[in-house]
Amino acid sequence: MRIAILTSGGDAPGMNACIRAVVRTAIYKNIEVYGIYEGYEGLIDAKFEKMIESSVADIIHRGGTFLRTSRSERFMTDEGFEKAINSLKIFEIDALIVCGGDGTLKGAKKLKDAGINVIGIPCSIDNDLPYTDYTIGFMTAVETVTEAVSNIRDTTESHGRANVVEVMGRSCGDIALFSGVSSGAESIIIPEMEMNINEIAEKALMGKNRGKRHHIIIMAEGRGSAFDFARDFEKLTGIDTKVTVLGYLQRGGAPSIFDRILASEMGFKAVEEAENMNSCAIGTTDGHIRARSFDDIFDVKKEFRKDLLEILKVISI
Ligand code: F6P
Repeated sequence: MRIAILTSGGDAPGMNACIRAVVRTAIYKNIEVYGIYEGYEGLIDAKFEKMIESSVADIIHRGGTFLRTSRSERFMTDEGFEKAINSLKIFEIDALIVCGGDGTLKGAKKLKDAGINVIGIPCSIDNDLPYTDYTIGFMTAVETVTEAVSNIRDTTESHGRANVVEVMGRSCGDIALFSGVSSGAESIIIPEMEMNINEIAEKALMGKNRGKRHHIIIMAEGRGSAFDFARDFEKLTGIDTKVTVLGYLQRGGAPSIFDRILASEMGFKAVEEAENMNSCAIGTTDGHIRARSFDDIFDVKKEFRKDLLEILKVISI
């Protein structure tokens, strides 16, 4: 049997750990394994390389993806898609493992619908795939944001200011929500809930009246411009308000222990499913690693963690 693996879309910490798990598990099972460089672009251009045990040595702790990645527009075209399928035929690949976020897994479903055996592994800092509780890379991003906010808090406190910290997540507010709790932010602004600037301002002023000297507001990028919000907030409160856009800082760095373990578990499970020629998307729910059909993963509705939001409101005053 012969399988191949690629990483696509925005990179996420833990992708390397995941590739390592896939390569080592495949070799253990006497399955030949190829790495495809640069995601779907590399699939189209047949950038395949046979992986051996040492191909994935010394990478479990590294951020990014050594297989590199891309956002492929060519893969969306009929011509590019045909070429991608052809590459898999030329290399006689029995099953393809793809690691990435929403766009990548949609591409994987398209390949599955065209008759390819595909296994998807959710890798994205955004945690925006509702069929899985966690995507690989999310918890590391939350840790990175938390560390950054701790630094921002020091200077914010010293100057008696407010700071609006904009975080990634596309239309998902999980990075803002989880890092809001872990960094003790006073308020968060996320796409999943209405935002009331008067309430946020009132909370900051109440804090200020109690002698509080820092006000941290974490805003998800999916809620618009942090600069616009900061300007309005400053007008309402009179508190000197700065903005920090964390940007790509959030996507790099060594994966957390949680992500290394999740990546290892998901990579192992993906090879088991590949061995059974079972096209599916790997996920984790209620602490268990599970395989789900591509046909229903995009329709799943997941409630955001309202319980965490309640906790934040009670303890970050
Ligand atoms: O999906 C991951 C992500 O980092 C999002 O949070 C962000 O909106 C987007 O990718 C940025 O994409 P790009 O790397 O193409 O600028």
